[in-house]
Amino acid sequence: MTREAGSGGGEARSAPPPHVKPWGGRFQDEQAPLFERINASLPFDYKLAPYDLAGSRAHVRMLGAIGVLEPEETSRLLEGLEAVRGEIEAGSFIWDLRDEDIHMAVERRLTELVGPLGGKVHTGRSRNDQVALDLQLYLREAVRGHLHLVLDLMDALLRRARGTQQVILPGYTHLQRAQPVSLAFHLLAYVFMLERDAARFLRWRESSWMPLGAGALAGVNYAADREAVARELAFDRVAPNAMDAVASRDAAFEYLAACTCCALNLSRLAEELVLWCSQEFGFARMPDAWSSGSSIMPQKRNPDAAELVRGKAAGFIGRLSAFGSLLKGLPLAYNKDLQEDKLYVFASREELDVCLEATAAMVSALSFDEVQARKAAEGGYAQATDVADYLVGKGLPFREAHAVAGRLVAAAAARGIPLAELTASDLVSVSALLEEGVQEVVRLERVVAGKISQGGTAPERVGEQLGLAAARLQALREAVAGLG
Ligand code: ARG
Repeated sequence: MTREAGSGGGEARSAPPPHVKPWGGRFQDEQAPLFERINASLPFDYKLAPYDLAGSRAHVRMLGAIGVLEPEETSRLLEGLEAVRGEIEAGSFIWDLRDEDIHMAVERRLTELVGPLGGKVHTGRSRNDQVALDLQLYLREAVRGHLHLVLDLMDALLRRARGTQQVILPGYTHLQRAQPVSLAFHLLAYVFMLERDAARFLRWRESSWMPLGAGALAGVNYAADREAVARELAFDRVAPNAMDAVASRDAAFEYLAACTCCALNLSRLAEELVLWCSQEFGFARMPDAWSSGSSIMPQKRNPDAAELVRGKAAGFIGRLSAFGSLLKGLPLAYNKDLQEDKLYVFASREELDVCLEATAAMVSALSFDEVQARKAAEGGYAQATDVADYLVGKGLPFREAHAVAGRLVAAAAARGIPLAELTASDLVSVSALLEEGVQEVVRLERVVAGKISQGGTAPERVGEQLGLAAARLQALREAVAGLG
């Protein structure tokens, strides 16, 4: 943003007119342009405009109600604020860097529109409690948006999961084929991870309170009706201590932490999409709409969007860490360092929404190659634990059974064949306990169906998980719809 928004060469044309700062009473000289630049938050906090205006409306009404403003002044100020809102919405508002921040930009324009009366809007208020309020309102809106998108992604995963209880792929540990699982089971893991992300965002509301009326740090010289302001702005409670209200940013930190958890979960799903779409795995294919080519290698189909969701998680960790560093050791109450908080918060909000939407779209668009996935499950000796458990059923202690199954894997691996292709005599030569019919033990459907413990990958257990996930999704949808 230049001094005049949208006029890059403005300063070359003519010197700007002298600009009177609302706080300029004790100052004689103009601010150094470079200081003005480093000091201004307007280039980014203009995004707070709707919240700033909502806060000002509630503040003006409250001042009217307690008799600090005449009824006529109250309505003229409210009309003026409405006009400012209209200009911002229409894009005709003049953004001037010399206003410093959104709070003073709004007050400047209000005063231009309603005259000196505009100066009364800041009665009993400081930018410190004002910005704390704006941030709270911004975060609340951000959380609501994330919640909708998290639930949409849960829904997209659930849709893909339904009906895939019989689709088998290898489950991995150490990225080595470990035990076969169903696709539904694998996708449900992410549904439940996202359920916790949603719960974290919902819980964030408990850290939220209404700061206005705190003033600069000590409270204000008016019997401000803070409860009325809180009611109008749909807060459950007012900040109980003025110093805490203007100094604290732990709610924003918590918000960033919730975003980061979610972004980390998404990055793991994204990584699996990348792996599944690789030629090495070949479990899935991303349609053209979600793949890009290479400028040099004509054969390439790159899963860039999934890679970016994976990569963007780094930014979330960085911003959370930077924000923690910003807060660490800051003395009470407000310090200008806090102006930087918005950079981290705004970026995380925007990035998380994009990641959530893109991931839901990719999950829905993906086509899964059941044949290839099954082949991988078959070829990786992922049924070895089940052979061991079969031997346990024959009375062998698990540790010995583990060794026998290991020898069986070695025999199959030496010949480059899956366990299911070993003949009866191959089996008996490894252990007399492996009699005829043991081939059934390694049939993938049987192996998957054997995981009957609660939360396991057996189809009936997955059926329960599908039901539970759908119920949780519904409950969360209701909770989100009921948010004030
Ligand atoms: N632009 C400031 C911020 O974002 C608003 C608060 C300014 N307060 C002050 N005492 N200078 O934090």
